Amino acid sequence: MASEQELIAKASAMLDMAYVPYSKFPVGAALECEDGAVYTGCNIENASYGLTNCAERTAAFKAVSEGHRRFRRIVIAGRCEDYCWPCGACRQVLNEFGGPQMEVVCLNGKGDAVRLTLGELLPHGVDSVWLGN
Ligand code: THU
Repeated sequence: MASEQELIAKASAMLDMAYVPYSKFPVGAALECEDGAVYTGCNIENASYGLTNCAERTAAFKAVSEGHRRFRRIVIAGRCEDYCWPCGACRQVLNEFGGPQMEVVCLNGKGDAVRLTLGELLPHGVDSVWLGN
């Protein structure tokens, strides 16, 4: 299991990989799976704006596409003043594989952290894997 500091370092390093020519708002993520595997992600924008993929979903899709379907924790890094909160779409995607107990660590540009569960961020999320389907 990675330490929180290691995950913070990995999420922060991903800020430099973000492809953000339109928003200039880089986001980095480090996702820890139940088996200890760690996948990173960054946001990837597109000239067709709606095709943008958030950092959290980049990391989630990398993990699932490599066979990891149970998530334990995610660290989300940004350079902004406020904490880098996951958007609604990412909350729902994380819920699919992490469930309400998943830990979410949101960082601000100074490196301060807020720790929440996904259930706090997404009450009553739609769920199938965690119902055993
Ligand atoms: N973004 C993320 O990558 N994750 C979030 O949690 C919030 C938003 C990205 C999408 C877009 O590239 C930029 O941040 C501005 O919304």
